[in-house]
Amino acid sequence: MNKLFSFFITAALISGCAGTRQIRSVTASLKDMYKNDFLIGAAVSWQQVEGKDPAAFNLISRQFNTITPENIMKEEELRPAWGEYDFSRADRFIDFAKAHHLQVNGHTLIWHSQMPAFARSIESVDSFRTFFTDHIRKVAGRYSGKVQSWDVVNEALNEDGTLRKSPFLNKLGDNYIADAFKLTNEVSPGTDLYYNDYNNEQPEKRAGCIALIKKIQQAGVRIDGVGIQGHWHVGKVPFKEIEESILEYAALGIKVAITELDIEVLPRNFTGAEVSQQMKTETNSNPYVKELPETVQKQIADDYGRLFKLLLKHKDKIARVTFWGVHDGQSWLNDWPIPGRTNYPLLFDRNGKPKPAFYSVIAASKR
Ligand code: XIL
Repeated sequence: MNKLFSFFITAALISGCAGTRQIRSVTASLKDMYKNDFLIGAAVSWQQVEGKDPAAFNLISRQFNTITPENIMKEEELRPAWGEYDFSRADRFIDFAKAHHLQVNGHTLIWHSQMPAFARSIESVDSFRTFFTDHIRKVAGRYSGKVQSWDVVNEALNEDGTLRKSPFLNKLGDNYIADAFKLTNEVSPGTDLYYNDYNNEQPEKRAGCIALIKKIQQAGVRIDGVGIQGHWHVGKVPFKEIEESILEYAALGIKVAITELDIEVLPRNFTGAEVSQQMKTETNSNPYVKELPETVQKQIADDYGRLFKLLLKHKDKIARVTFWGVHDGQSWLNDWPIPGRTNYPLLFDRNGKPKPAFYSVIAASKR
């Protein structure tokens, strides 16, 4: 532990007034350490925008220079009913980012999950196309100039690289992806446009992802980057596949971003991040309720350190690395794929204190 604390930079501020002495500790900042390399982001919740998460309060603006709305800009949040939009929270999110000098990655325009119920029940192809077209025009148009990048389409692929049979594919056919990018470009020409998915570092899905990107490019439509979500498991981070993916995606002339990074520690019988997938509770499903054992704490720190060294090796190809949450208490992995577990996937603990993994990422930056 002593070694880790050596990265804790203490600045002693001596104030001469009235002979008082003030000592203030300053923890290193991720966004400062990586400022010449890539953007460093976090997914931010509505609770955090409202200022109701004390553990996250100072971390967001000190540690990160870009934020992604964890849920606030998803279809079901913005579309209460046919023909209606509710931008109140999304607008507040944009104001929050501005006030804290943070860039924004819009997440996400077209996704089969977290769609409003009314959209799922649309039967007519024409009406569904209207839903799709209107959504992109209104949402991307409203935030043009306010978001630096958009996850235009999220999770359109199956694990074998074929197109997922989502309502979008079923109703609109396989050109819907290029259409989504084209429409977004029309209303938000200055925003970087990304395709985002999980497990798209894995060879089969990666091949499908490359084909999907090429199809967009061959249609003469702009695509600027690919997001690898990065929901990985401690001790099993696929470093080789990640490096191959960075190289192969960059060879298409686009940027790569790690968009939803977390390294979870709890048992799982599948990989990836399909939000509709659940797991049964078993006796050992939630082993670290009180605390994380030193060995696992060290393994997750080592994994994060190695990952950031790899990302730095290819920093000319990487635009951004975003963590899926600010601290462990916020992580969606406490409730998915089994609700009510205690997970430890991020760099800050439940009190917002830096973990060994944080110091490991800071150390990786000092190459
Ligand atoms: C998750 C959120 O973190 C949860 O709060 C929500 O209940 C479900 O969605 N891939 C994505 C993200 O693209 O939008 C998902 O976020 C996690 C998986």
